[in-house]
Amino acid sequence: MSLEFAERMRRIPQYPAAETYEYGGELVKLASNETAWSPHPAVMEAIERQLQDLNRYPDPDRSVLRQRLAERLETTPARIAVGNGSCDILLAAGEVLLEPGAEIVYAWPSFSMYPHLAATSGARAVTVPLDSDARHDLEAMAREVTAATRIVLVCNPNNPTATALPIGEIDAFVGSLPRHACVILDEAYVEFSTLQDPGESLALVERHPNLVILRTFSKVYGLCGLRVGYALCAEDFRSAVDRVRQPFAVNSLAQAAAAEALLHQDEVARRVERVAVERLHLDGELASRGLETSDSEANFCWVSLGDRDEAAILRGLAERGVIVRGGADLGEEGYLRVTYGTRPENDRFLEALDEVLAQVPAGA
Ligand SMILES: Cc1ncc(COP(=O)(O)O)c(C=O)c1O
Repeated sequence: MSLEFAERMRRIPQYPAAETYEYGGELVKLASNETAWSPHPAVMEAIERQLQDLNRYPDPDRSVLRQRLAERLETTPARIAVGNGSCDILLAAGEVLLEPGAEIVYAWPSFSMYPHLAATSGARAVTVPLDSDARHDLEAMAREVTAATRIVLVCNPNNPTATALPIGEIDAFVGSLPRHACVILDEAYVEFSTLQDPGESLALVERHPNLVILRTFSKVYGLCGLRVGYALCAEDFRSAVDRVRQPFAVNSLAQAAAAEALLHQDEVARRVERVAVERLHLDGELASRGLETSDSEANFCWVSLGDRDEAAILRGLAERGVIVRGGADLGEEGYLRVTYGTRPENDRFLEALDEVLAQVPAGA
């Protein structure tokens, strides 16, 4: 006899995992928009200090981290939710706001977790195509908001297209929507954007009580292996997402590491600068090969393959030890999403790409 799973299980999409690492050898991992550099030495020390207390449960209130975030964001800890990665808070938002009959609006292609919210709750997903520059079409999204809309997701910069909108446009968009719709502004990559200072979006939460800003320590802070992210939000949102999650959702190493990482903004600035240099280099190299990229404001690029065979290119790259993501898994076939790595990694990607493109030409 086989298990009988809940009906909603049939709706939940598989999270599209990156190409496996089965090819062996020394891999160039450019598939998950991670940071190429290990954590700051002081962060490693904070983790080591915390190791001695692993026989104790973590602080369920995440007090030190929330206090430190509050100081940095010039708000109160009551307005900060901390999660086991920002995905944890995103999924909890779906749990507390959505139900059958409700609607959730988001652009597509966008972050691959977004379809889970409707699937797990039974709400209706309303997807709005990106504009011709692969950016959110906020006007079209606003037209889809109805009395049934409970969540509107805006990913800025957008994964997988790497494009961003100026924060002023998002401010006006949120202001134009009815207050019953919770706008979740996913800023996982905001530090890399040249269109705004990360601090600029924070004032929006004061102006719009229905706005939630999601951020993560997985990207520029380089702590995705520990899983920690946060939301800046109204107090009622925080207490709702805290109620539906297990009390010890954020492990003690993650809390200690994130609290320490916040103290090293010079390191954040250094990483942003290094990514900006690699962005220029890689986008320029791709352009010189006739490959178009969208305007990246993130730590990755979205490369159009035209009519070339995406699956064959992915396979060819993987066989040469270079792992990137294909657009088919991310919502639009005919693209590669490539994280900017170190210079040697990016050059190994280009070398492998040249070999593969020679075998998989356009118009074949
Ligand atoms: C747009 C976006 N939001 C959120 C996340 C998830 O971040 P976390 O690791 O904090 O769960 C990612 C990770 O790739 C992402 O691309």
